[in-house]
Parts: sequence; C-alpha cells; structure tokens
Amino acid sequence: MSLLQKLSAVTGEAFAAEGLPAEMGHVRVSDRPDLAQFQCNGAMSAAKTAKKNPRAVAEAIVARLKDNPLFSKIEIAGPGFINLNVTDDVLSAFLKDNAKDGRYGFASFGAGETMVLDYGGPNVAKAMHVGHLRPCIIGDALRRMALFAGYKAIGDVHLGDWGTPMGMIISALEMLHPDWPYFDADFKGEYPKESPVTMADLEQIYPKASAACKEDPARMDAARRATMELQDGRAGYRALWKHFVAVSIAGIKVNYDALGVHFDLWKGEADVHDLIAPMVQDLEKRGFAVKDDGATIVPIKKNDDEKEFPPLILYKRDGAVMYGTTDLATIVERVQLYHPSKIVYVVDQRQSLHFEQVFRAARLSGIAPDAIELTHAGFGTMNGADGKPFKTRAGGVMRLEDMIEMATEAARTQMKEAGVAQDADAAEQERIANQVAVAAIKFADLQNQRQSDYIFDLNRFTSFEGKTGPYLQYQAVRVKSLLKKAEAQNDQSSEYLIVNDENRALALLLSELPEALALSLRNYTPHVLCDHVYRLANAFSSFYGNCHILSEPDAGIRANRLRLCRMVMEQLVLVLDLLGIVVPERM
Ligand code: ARG
Repeated sequence: MSLLQKLSAVTGEAFAAEGLPAEMGHVRVSDRPDLAQFQCNGAMSAAKTAKKNPRAVAEAIVARLKDNPLFSKIEIAGPGFINLNVTDDVLSAFLKDNAKDGRYGFASFGAGETMVLDYGGPNVAKAMHVGHLRPCIIGDALRRMALFAGYKAIGDVHLGDWGTPMGMIISALEMLHPDWPYFDADFKGEYPKESPVTMADLEQIYPKASAACKEDPARMDAARRATMELQDGRAGYRALWKHFVAVSIAGIKVNYDALGVHFDLWKGEADVHDLIAPMVQDLEKRGFAVKDDGATIVPIKKNDDEKEFPPLILYKRDGAVMYGTTDLATIVERVQLYHPSKIVYVVDQRQSLHFEQVFRAARLSGIAPDAIELTHAGFGTMNGADGKPFKTRAGGVMRLEDMIEMATEAARTQMKEAGVAQDADAAEQERIANQVAVAAIKFADLQNQRQSDYIFDLNRFTSFEGKTGPYLQYQAVRVKSLLKKAEAQNDQSSEYLIVNDENRALALLLSELPEALALSLRNYTPHVLCDHVYRLANAFSSFYGNCHILSEPDAGIRANRLRLCRMVMEQLVLVLDLLGIVVPERM
C-alpha cells in the first residue's frame, strides 16, 4: 500500500465507524502544503448523503482520529476539510519498509492481465514523419508503465500495409516494368529474393503514383484493381508487396531505434486479412452487418446519439475492405490470441470518429465483450511556431530522421553552452547529445496534457534549465556522481532515511510516486508522472543547494543525507526509464 492508501484506510475506518461510507475517507496530498501535508474532503459529501452538518461530520471523524499515533496534526478547515500531517517517525518507517524495491507501495494492479497497446501506425512505402512521433512516445511510455504495474503489456506497431496505396505503387511499377515476373500472371518460377525497389525508390514512387491517381480516373481504377488482386492473393503482387513491407520495416526500425521505442509485435493491417471474410459472414448471419447499396455495413446509430454516427463500412461497393474493417478484424485477432483486458490505441485524436465507429461495432456484435476496455487515447497536434501542424521550412512534411538530427544538433549546442560533457571524448559526446536530444523530444511531448496541441520549440526543449528532459537528466546525473564521490571517499549512506525538517518535503514527494504513476497509467496521461518527476528534481535541487552533503562534518547527518540522495537518484532513474528517457553515464 502507498502512504496515501494507508492513510485513506485509517480515515475510512473512522467514516465507517460513524456509519458513513468508508470511501469517503479518501486522503490526498494537500492543495495547501503551507497548511498541511494531506487532506480529506469526505466530510462534505458524507454530510450531504447523511443530511448532516459537514462540520459536525468532520468533528466526529477528527474525534476518532485524534489519538491515532500516525498523525502529528489533525485540523478542520473551512466548511469541513480535514487537514492532516503524519509524524516524521511514521514517514521514516514507511520509507524504510517501502523504498527498497523502488515502488513505495505501488501495487501491481495489472498482475494477471494483458494490455495491448497500438502506438505505431507508420505506413509501408512512406517515409516516417513527425506525425509518427507522438503515438510512439506516448505509447511506449504507457507500455513501460503497464509492465511496471504488472500487466503483460504488448506493443503492436500495426503497420498501414493493406490499403489502396499498395495498389497505387503496384500498378505504377507495372506500367514502368511490365517485364518483371511479378506482373506475369502465368509466371510459375521463384520470384527474386532481392527487392527490386529500395525504400528511397518507394518514397519517390508513392507520391507520384498517388498524384497520378487523383488526376486520372483510369490510373485510379488500375490502382483499385491491383489492390483487390493483391488482397485476393495474386502471387506476383503478394511477392512484390512483401518486398515493400520488408524494405519499409527496415527503415521504420531505424527510426524507432533512434528514439529507443520498442514494439513486441510487428504486425500490420494485412495480418488480419484472412479473418475478414469469416468475420463479415458471422456479422451478417447474426444480423449486425447488412447490405446497403452494394456495400456491406454495420449500422451503429443509437437513439440517444447527439451527433451523426455513419455506419462502419466493411466492404465498399467494389468489394474493397476499409480501414475500419481491418481495425475490427484486428480486435477479433487480439481477443483470440492475447485475451487482453484492455486494448489502447494511441492515435491522433482526429481519428476519434473512426475509433468510436469501430468500438461500437465491436461492442454491439460482442467482438469485444464489455469486460474488455477499448480506449482511444487520442492526442493533439505538434505545431510549428505559426500554430499550424509542424512542417519543414519549405512547408513540406518533416521526416522523422531529419527532426532527430535537428534535435541532436540543438543538443550539441546547448551542451557546449552549458559546459555539459565537454571533457568527454568525441564519441561519448555524440552519444550524450543523442540521449539529450531524445530526452528533450520525449519529455516535451509527454509533459503536455495528451489532448492538447503544443508548439515545437527545440531551443526550449533541449535547454538544461526549466521543465525539460535534459534538466531531469542533468539532475539525475548530478546525484549519481555525488553518490560515486561518496563511495570513493568511503562515505556510507545510512540504512534508511530519518525524516526531519530539512528533508521532510523531499521524503513526502518520494512517497507520492504510486499515485502519480497509477493516475498516469489508468488515464493514459503520462504528464502526471512528468509533473511528479519534475517536482522531485526541483526539490532535490533546492535541497542540494541548501545542505552540505559530502562536506557535512557530522557522520550521522551526512549518512542520512546520502540515504536521501540515493532514494532520489533511484526514483529519478526509475521514472525517467518509465517515460522512455535514458540517463547518461555522466554529463
Ligand atoms: N496507419 C494509420 C494512419 O496512418 C494509423 C494506424 C493507427 N492504429 C490503428 N489501429 N488504427 O493513419
């Protein structure tokens, strides 16, 4: 149990003893740290339910708590807020028992459950661009938190590999190279092992083919036909398409590796193709899917809808499958293979209607029983200084690798200016610059409310001051090197932390980890954890400024301060790791 859970349990008992619901004893960190460490606001709501005076309820609760040795202060404020402080001994004892494993009483509430996270979505044959940044940063952080909470967490890249763009490229290549064996319908030999196109070729071909299809209905027809034949299993098309996928994945992996983002599954829309026909048949048989003007749709309107809910289209009139079809079939597959209790989609919030449609169809038909939580964790846009979606200076789409390079360059400059890692050799400096750049990009993204847009500002993101990734890395490295020095001069840290005036604020902050982490994970809002780690780093920074540590003459005090430093270091490193941020060896 976390400290807050412990306090809530005690306060809850007092409510229960008054014949009031125990949940009302919920204790949280005080909004007014100048008045108290913790507060309980339950007397107000309890009074409403019990039709009593809130202050009288608060008094009754306080009367039951006032002799409890946990508390050093219990007061009623305003209409019935209960303000609480715990004794330093209680705090010390809590830390002693719960800090060792780094969890501070954080419960493995996901144990025995599986969470599937979908946070990739790059498309085959297209360069990865800045639009692919937010899903993977947020999704990978959530995956890490889910693992820490005991879930079996499965990250799936879910490539866009099955739509019309594939047919556009195939038909464009067929025009250019009609002699390739892939286009000979009677070809019986083995197709070449080497891809006839590179990633660079595909990046060139796709935009041209797509533009041609927009202009010329005949080209569009050919592309549609090729898509259908590909999906129907035409061998040459499939063989060619496999090359597209392989060269694309190689390029995609380079980008995700550069960001330190991990996926457990490298599946794509195409993987569920064989599940689609039986799924649609089943939906038709059970009356959930119907024919509509030649198309096959799932009507999902409800009577009390406040907005328009267009049906989910499973087959278009020409028989092609849609984005929603593969997403629905992917739920079928995920349920079958992984038995998840949660499926989370970290995808641009502009796709919210799409997910509402897919989720409704899945729920109505029982493809996703109610016990499975389906969440679209949508996010806002990363904008340029002009407040519009971030572009290159020339107004084009910025490639992800270019952006990472830009950030690395900014990190090099900031490191020079701040005098960071300047005595390291060139190779190490470069490694640190990369780590700083990635931390800058990730933290700048994660610290925002997920749904908000934010403005891309590399100078600010890479700064070693302020609420930034590099600032947090710097603080973590600073504590680490302090501890190394202590070790070198044979200074021991005490076995556990004795809480006193000088370190109480930091000790309390350390104990808040479980709530910050649980909130972040349950609501898919990593910014809560970002706030926590930033407050911790700041509090440490002032502690460090105010107290001598290595030069403290009293060995007992020094050992206690070192113990605190160790706890701070461990928590900084842990939280940064959960956010996907690496702490450099030195800075
Ligand atoms: N490939 C899609 C796109 O480019 C994103 C996929 C997101 N995940 C999903 N299961 N729909 O928009």
